[in-house]
Amino acid sequence: MDRRTMATMTTTPVTVLNKDSMLIVKEQDVVPFRNRVKEYATKIGMGLVNQTKLITAASELVRNMLRYGGGGNTLIEVVSKGRENGIRLTFSDKGPGIANIEMAMKDGFTTGKSLGLGLPGTKRLVSEFDIKSKPGEGTTVMIIKWKNG
Ligand SMILES: Nc1ncnc2c1ncn2[C@@H]1O[C@H](COP(=O)(O)OP(=O)(O)OP(=O)(O)O)[C@@H](O)[C@H]1O
Ligand SMILES: [Mg+2]
Repeated sequence: MDRRTMATMTTTPVTVLNKDSMLIVKEQDVVPFRNRVKEYATKIGMGLVNQTKLITAASELVRNMLRYGGGGNTLIEVVSKGRENGIRLTFSDKGPGIANIEMAMKDGFTTGKSLGLGLPGTKRLVSEFDIKSKPGEGTTVMIIKWKNG
């Protein structure tokens, strides 16, 4: 895709250089998605440490989307701000949504008898993090990992 689109969000405004999307409906979709994210990160020359952080974050979010959101859509984008390139990932589902985002972002909060570390852990691993959710409508999480960030 060569058309450059300006996208302004609550996070840093970026230029989208390339994009791809993948539907996630079952457990078996997770590995191909992780591989695709890795391909994109490698393509922009992201180092292994940041790649690992990005992929770990991506895995948590995609698992939440499957477990709580009943699956959904992912967007993988190569973005730039000035000279710096990065990978932006968006996870959107039409599940039940999150009633209290502030609570969900706290270490140890879970409704799934799990560790409750996915969302707060993810936020710590990436450069930018944005979550929007409406009860009854769904949840969208967006993260950016800058190549050197
Ligand atoms: N896509 C989503 N749709 C609806 N609720 C969600 C979604 N993602 C997270 N949640 C809610 O936020 C809570 C916290 O999510 P988080 O990933 O931090 O922890 P967890 O999934 O419960 O445990 P862990 O990720 O450590 O295994 C979840 O228990 C769930 O209630
Ligand atoms: Mg989780």
